[in-house]
Amino acid sequence: MRHSSTRRSPLSKVTDQEMLWEAADKATNAHRRAIRLWLYGIAALLVVMVMVGGATRLTDSGLSIVEWRPVTGVLPPLSESAWTTEFDKYQTSSEYELANKGMTLAEFKRIYWWEWAHRLLGRVIGAAFLLPLLFFQLRGWIAPGLKWRLWLIFALGGLQGAIGWWMVASGLVGRVDVAQERLAIHLTMACLILIALIWTARFLAPAPASATTRIPERSHRLAPTAVTILGLLVLQIALGGLVSGLKAGLVYDTWPLIDGALIPSREHLLFLQPGWVNLLDNHLTVQFAHRMVAYLLLGLAVLHAADCTYRDYCRSGAIALACVLLLQATLGVLTLLWHVPILLALAHQSVAVVALIVATVHAANLRANKTTIAAAPRDRTQLITAEHPSAA
Ligand code: HEM
Repeated sequence: MRHSSTRRSPLSKVTDQEMLWEAADKATNAHRRAIRLWLYGIAALLVVMVMVGGATRLTDSGLSIVEWRPVTGVLPPLSESAWTTEFDKYQTSSEYELANKGMTLAEFKRIYWWEWAHRLLGRVIGAAFLLPLLFFQLRGWIAPGLKWRLWLIFALGGLQGAIGWWMVASGLVGRVDVAQERLAIHLTMACLILIALIWTARFLAPAPASATTRIPERSHRLAPTAVTILGLLVLQIALGGLVSGLKAGLVYDTWPLIDGALIPSREHLLFLQPGWVNLLDNHLTVQFAHRMVAYLLLGLAVLHAADCTYRDYCRSGAIALACVLLLQATLGVLTLLWHVPILLALAHQSVAVVALIVATVHAANLRANKTTIAAAPRDRTQLITAEHPSAA
């Protein structure tokens, strides 16, 4: 019997060893795949969350729930008297006094449902992250290096909930909108969490066969440029949050000129003291910065796409990125010229998230390529021959 272990040649022992490695690799791959799909699922939920958040802001619904009850708030008012109690609480807010006096209960319910849905989705995402994380950890499926990263993302999610309330609290007394810098921080944090999810998931993907061989004429500037574009995009989204928080698109509504010029006067750009305050509070400066970063991003993305023209491993990603940024800039201009209609503003916000996803995947792909090449996977034949010289 050739299959009996006693009659195996050194070579067939190696084959057994190989089979064991293969089985272990397969199990590990299946676990990595499960974790990867779970992270992509959470990222998809987060995209929906950002869109519901945008709709909540654009329908002026964000200040309708004046308390933060992380656990009991999961239930909406279930009786007419519970609705009246919620409405009474809302009537103590400045927004009701200054902007919505005389609102009916039916109108209040409409704005309440948006904010409630936004908060509920936050809780759903928290649970959809925590429960599988515990499961994977108890099963020992998570590699040590990955564990802290996943818990960090979870902590960022919790922090994001607290930032959300901090933002709402800024709009309850003495004003009818939330503080624009808190809105920008809330939006930016959502984007950072999205990047972390996609980046982590991307690095759990099996390396493509082509990545294990050195790609000829690799350019060393491609990965840093892709990462720079991603960083600029995060900055641009933060600036967008400031523009929308200040409603600056309604104050300066011309394009390509702003305040009558391509580059407004220094006195108008820097009239607040100290100078840096203009970057947060001056409608002109904030919108001007948003435009300038848009032009910079577009220019860089087009150059990067040109740089990738003859490189198969990055061409499609770079072209997709340039196209989505062009679409986004066009939507921005139309949103501005048409005085921020809700659907267009929502599209502008949603495409920003799409651009962020494309930029993250593209940058992660270029970085992954580099890492895979730098640390080629272990050479199985070498291991076999080292342990079983006779098998060579
Ligand atoms: C190409 C890069 C761009 C990106 C990534 C971007 C991103 C964003 C984001 C994330 C917001 C916040 C949306 C929200 O809070 O709901 C925003 C707001 C805004 N952006 Fe852009 N934007 C870009 C280009 C432009 C351009 C070129 C213009 C016009 C010249 C523009 C005009 C506006 C206006 C008017 C708002 C406020 C809309 C509102 O009040 O809801 N954007 N942008």
